[in-house]
Amino acid sequence: MQQIDVILGLQWGDEGKGKIVDYLATEYDMVARFQGGPNAGHTLKFGGNKYVLHTVPSGIFRENLLNLIGNGVVLDPVTFQRELRSLEQSGVDFSRRLFISRKAHLILPTHRWLDAASEAHKGKAKIGSTLKGIGPTYMDKTGRNGLRIGDIESPAFREQYETLKTKHLELLKIYAPVEFDLETAEREWFESLDTLRKLPMVDSEYFVNDAISSGKRVLAEGAQGSMLDIDFGTYPFVTSSNTVTAGVCTGLGVAPQRIGKVIGISKAYCTRVGSGPFPTEEDNETGELLRKEGMEFGATTGRPRRCGWIDLPQLRYTMLINGVTEICMTKIDVLNIFNEIAAATHYQYDGKTTTHLPFDLCQTEVAPLLKKYKGWNCSLDDVRSFEQLPTEAREYLEDLENLLGVPFNMISTGPEREKLIIR
Ligand code: GDP
Ligand code: IMO
Ligand code: MG
Repeated sequence: MQQIDVILGLQWGDEGKGKIVDYLATEYDMVARFQGGPNAGHTLKFGGNKYVLHTVPSGIFRENLLNLIGNGVVLDPVTFQRELRSLEQSGVDFSRRLFISRKAHLILPTHRWLDAASEAHKGKAKIGSTLKGIGPTYMDKTGRNGLRIGDIESPAFREQYETLKTKHLELLKIYAPVEFDLETAEREWFESLDTLRKLPMVDSEYFVNDAISSGKRVLAEGAQGSMLDIDFGTYPFVTSSNTVTAGVCTGLGVAPQRIGKVIGISKAYCTRVGSGPFPTEEDNETGELLRKEGMEFGATTGRPRRCGWIDLPQLRYTMLINGVTEICMTKIDVLNIFNEIAAATHYQYDGKTTTHLPFDLCQTEVAPLLKKYKGWNCSLDDVRSFEQLPTEAREYLEDLENLLGVPFNMISTGPEREKLIIR
């Protein structure tokens, strides 16, 4: 049976998914985003330039390849338009290779303000949301109030918009006031819908299944990471969608037996941006070194990312939930400067040493058990194969591979497209 392969993040996001999707895209006929929205920031580097994609799939720079924004995505037409303009400026002709699902949901300006109001209301307990309106839009989707891309073609669209907006404005009165300029935002939003109308809207469940059935190779691109999944992440410090493999089925309309390879992306260490538990966080000099060396600042919000060592119980958990068939380890070069590297092999809590995650990482004080490795203290700039890696780097990776039990088929040694070891 023809299948769809999946690339997704195994940690708290920003694992380097964009780079790997862009690299692998040449092996595929279509790249399809299945969830999330402009909270994502996927960075691609090639030809001396850097590009950050938020809603557009990371296959967009490859000619002869279709890109699909699936039904599981939430789309803000204003940020989307900005993204398209910047692609145009880079000379990318997306007009015949970017498709949008009619069933994807629209982010309204009022969704963004509700996001801001809700976060302000939570005070110290705030999620650390990117404030792109993601949570409120998915709430309207599951609450059966949302507006979908396909609705913009309906004569009743304006009325549907007014109804939802009015409800939002009422809701906003519950919260402490947030500042907004409704008139300007609304004008901009409706103008941006015209850009949307110029792109092909499709019944994506047919579009993607027809492609798979006719032998086209399809790659599903995840956003965020599995620890931000609404069901399996560090709830409530999560995003509002299913970021795991199951999200491919609901976010594109493909059946579970169609899922082929599941390529999990993990950094050789670990980061998280926003609030919430992070057992291996190094809130100290080590963390600062990782941040500086890894340039760990959010691609969407610019916020500094929290940094720490790789967490194997956490990775085992997300490998399990996702059915990971292989791992791509990224940012191994960031560890070049360390004399000693560590990895958490177990957690200690409630008087036991275990590899299981507790029910609630927010409520359970977990002490990670760290295994130490010798660093390699040299640049990986000229390394082109696994065998060329310094002995210590190979030992570190091989030990992690043994402990996790899946092959590391790709090792990324720098942000640029070509800095990738394929085994
Ligand atoms: P994504 O959201 O998973 O696509 O990841 P982001 O783009 O948010 O963050 C990954 C960051 O690391 C970006 O700045 C990438 O350019 C960069 N990056 C990706 N792979 C590597 C790598 O192997 N080494 C280094 N040093 N940087 C990398
Ligand atoms: P990519 O695809 C890292 C985090 C936010 C916040 C929480 C909820 O680039 O890996 P939301 O805006 O969804 O309400 O925020 O999730 N978050 C991400 N962190 N990478 C992302 O995407 C993220 N998208 C959301 O920081 O903690
Ligand atoms: Mg990112």
